[in-house]
Amino acid sequence: MTKAIRYFTKFGHSAKMAEVVSEVTGVKAETLSSPITEPIDVLYLGSGVMLGKISSDMADFIRTLTPDKVKRAICFGSCAIIKSPVPQMRRLLEAQGITVDERSFTCKGSMGPLYAGHPNKQDLEELRQFIQSTI
Ligand SMILES: Cc1cc2nc3c(=O)[nH]c(=O)nc-3n(C[C@H](O)[C@H](O)[C@H](O)COP(=O)(O)O)c2cc1C
Repeated sequence: MTKAIRYFTKFGHSAKMAEVVSEVTGVKAETLSSPITEPIDVLYLGSGVMLGKISSDMADFIRTLTPDKVKRAICFGSCAIIKSPVPQMRRLLEAQGITVDERSFTCKGSMGPLYAGHPNKQDLEELRQFIQSTI
């Protein structure tokens, strides 16, 4: 099964999470500046949230994806106020006709003193277990 990892990160949190995904899957974690050129079975996609929204870079990236390039997406992310960035990613992915796995992972991501230190060691361990469960 071919896999790829892409993430957008403003404060390094999704990058840290993507590294865990990389360790578990054995696939390189890459930013959105690397387009998906080969068809892949599973795309792990990670994001945080600012002003209540995923970045426009992430939205634009998702709009480049097609079901023939990406069979299935698995979303992960972090945020401080809203529940999760995943529904926003899911909506855009599904609008592209891409199957989005029911399973996803979200943890707290710091916003100044709010949830300071997150994603922390325990968050990353829970992410590791989640990714393992998807393989
Ligand atoms: C300036 C700033 C604005 C933020 N705005 C929001 C927000 O509107 N809603 C929310 O749920 N989280 C918000 N957060 C929390 C981020 O989503 C969280 O830090 C996330 O882990 C960032 O991921 P990233 O570093 O991969 O971009 C904000 C954080 C900062 C520092």
